[in-house]
Amino acid sequence: MTKVLLTGGAGFIGSHTGLTLLESGHQVVVVDDFSNGSAEAMRRVAELAGLGPWRQASTEHWTAADPEGGRLTLIRGDVRSPQDLDRAFTVDGGDISAVLHFAGLKAVGESMTQPLRYWDVNVTGTVRLLEAMGRHGCQTLVFSSSATLYGTTDQVPIPETAPLQPINPYGYTKAAVERLLTDVAASAPGWRIALLRYFNPVGAHPSGRIGEDPNGLPNNLFPFLCQVAAGRRRHLQVFGGDWPTPDGTGVRDYLHVMDLAEGHGRALDLLLAEPPQRLTLNLGSGRGHSVLEVVQTFEATNGLRLPYTVVARRPGDSAVSVADPREAERRMGWRTRRSLADICRDGWAWQSANPQGYRSAEKEPIGELIRAQHGS
Ligand code: UD1
Repeated sequence: MTKVLLTGGAGFIGSHTGLTLLESGHQVVVVDDFSNGSAEAMRRVAELAGLGPWRQASTEHWTAADPEGGRLTLIRGDVRSPQDLDRAFTVDGGDISAVLHFAGLKAVGESMTQPLRYWDVNVTGTVRLLEAMGRHGCQTLVFSSSATLYGTTDQVPIPETAPLQPINPYGYTKAAVERLLTDVAASAPGWRIALLRYFNPVGAHPSGRIGEDPNGLPNNLFPFLCQVAAGRRRHLQVFGGDWPTPDGTGVRDYLHVMDLAEGHGRALDLLLAEPPQRLTLNLGSGRGHSVLEVVQTFEATNGLRLPYTVVARRPGDSAVSVADPREAERRMGWRTRRSLADICRDGWAWQSANPQGYRSAEKEPIGELIRAQHGS
């Protein structure tokens, strides 16, 4: 049984990946500061994985386990803090085999007004993490990179070899971390590093128990559209009806978050099985869907109507962004299995069952939340 550390494991992609890893027999340690993740998501991951009850080991450390050795440990901590990271690497006897590094800030608009914060959390946070990995003898890392690195290219589909030309501070921080990890991998033998460039991760676990719960006004299409469907927003604004695409709206490569979670599992297995290497892989479906196709599929799948208006283009957007995912299939036998209709069905199952996301449960402090709901 392998023990892995997930930074930012209480967030959208981290929580789904954590569940997938627990189900495939890994022990999982999560370190998260809950700035954009949720203790309630962790509680539900444990419940879906059949773990519990929760035990509190210290003021910032909780564990849910089962008799067969399954174990989810949660540490409230910041990736920029060496002490918090040391705690995560040594908890329950230490021996972390690999790190999946999800912790980071990801809102493009915010990155333009708060560049220092983005460089600090995304880049300094990764430096601190690599230092901690050095102290604890761990050299295996899966990093959450992004298709944002390709900027506004006209290339369709986009292979990993396409030029990197980020256009905002968020993108620059992702490029900087990829560079940093490439330098680190070259500096010493033994590093196993996967840079996973996500296209547009959307949808939710099919149970509807965990999903995406953005802070404030969602920046991205799918969570916005789900909130319109739930009645939290009046209508969707479609950014641009004059793009050079079949219906004039922007085309993106949407992938189901469970496909993405499984991609992380494959990358981890491959890194641990093969000799040390650095892998760079696109994770996308290879299929493009326009904004209007997403709206129509959501309406048809879920039997509801989504009011929308077409407005001006959003600055910084491109017409089309679609992955060439063949390298991920070649290297790790991974491809997306779920359709846009699956995404719309599962996304709505989550949003309709949790119209305010995890919010109502979030009012309680984590310890009380866990105690209250497990009676321990
Ligand atoms: C965005 C980020 C990108 C990040 C990715 C993660 C921007 C400019 N880019 O990509 O850096 O890696 O999320 O998932 O934020 N749209 C609407 N109405 C809306 C929102 C979006 O019409 O309210 C359109 C957009 O113009 C685009 C498509 O929907 O054509 C997808 O947008 P979004 O979900 O924000 O993703 P990206 O822009 O592809």
